[in-house]
Amino acid sequence: ADNKVFRASTTAPVNIAVVKYWGKRDAKLNLPTNSSISVTLSQDDLRTLTTASCSASYSGDSLTLNGQSTDVSGARTQACFRELRERRAAIEKNDPSLPKISTLPLKVVSENNFPTAAGLASSAAGFAALVRAIANLYELPDSPEDLSRIARQGSGSACRSLFGGYAAWRMGDKDDGSDSQAQLIAPASHWPNMRALILVVNAAKKDVPSTSGMQQTVATSGLFQQRIAHVVPANMKLMEEAIHNKDFATFAEVTMRESNSFHSCAADTYPPIFYMNDASRAAIRAVEALNAAAGKTIAAYTYDAGPNCVIYFLEEDQETVIGAFYKFLSGVSGWKDSAAKAQSAVDLPE
Ligand code: PMV
Repeated sequence: ADNKVFRASTTAPVNIAVVKYWGKRDAKLNLPTNSSISVTLSQDDLRTLTTASCSASYSGDSLTLNGQSTDVSGARTQACFRELRERRAAIEKNDPSLPKISTLPLKVVSENNFPTAAGLASSAAGFAALVRAIANLYELPDSPEDLSRIARQGSGSACRSLFGGYAAWRMGDKDDGSDSQAQLIAPASHWPNMRALILVVNAAKKDVPSTSGMQQTVATSGLFQQRIAHVVPANMKLMEEAIHNKDFATFAEVTMRESNSFHSCAADTYPPIFYMNDASRAAIRAVEALNAAAGKTIAAYTYDAGPNCVIYFLEEDQETVIGAFYKFLSGVSGWKDSAAKAQSAVDLPE
């Protein structure tokens, strides 16, 4: 029995923010300067699959990402391990008949079903899957909201990947982070014709990591103060209403304004940070041309801390949107591969 291996597996989806998290008020606990909202992508296309196990036979905690052994000593991973172990230990204390596994070495093995080289933020799905896999292994009674507070400490955006569909991360106002957690706004089935197209820029570029980008923005951007005081609170309200009412035009406008606001704040830091490149801006122009030709807003772009583009649209406009991207972008340097593959890259939020 000493060498017995306890094991559990789970998956978590990638989420792409439509109201952006950008800025920490507490870097240790990953407490944000503002609330945010995201849409979860289909697990058929983008997800992390994670198996957590523990055994006295393991020599120590370990973490493997896409076949590569990864450092577990980082503060983020340690915070997640510690919180989950504490919860398991509390259950074991209450019920002495349970196996005492909270002190055993943990082994976490994670695989993405999309190329890491795609440059898509995978930390959100990664930490959400890690937390849920260990919570399953420990048979914790915690709700997704409870687990989101743990995942948040791994990577802020990960707290929203505990939910499918449309999720909000409420910033909270307590210093200990006990009220900074994610919450379901609506399941994907609420708006079943929503689609996302992911366009990956060919050229690999080293981006400024989100943590240092946020730190620099909070410290040096004046525009950012305006954003967190006025812009985000208004957009949170508009976006929640747009999702509830399935109002694509408003959803799209707020999504694009949010992306623009976040990237303007990055550019307003000193020295400036540029996440988008010429190819990114060409795709923005393509969305503008597409919407102008349609006479209404049928597509919305958004960019995170890198040059890759996510386009939201409704299923009924799929042919128009994908056709337009092919037409506008297949000749643009940086987008040739992605435009050609656009047809196969359509994602259903789930
Ligand atoms: O969770 P992090 O630290 O990787 O930050 C994510 C930041 C953005 O992707 C740019 C925005 C967001 O809300 O996901």
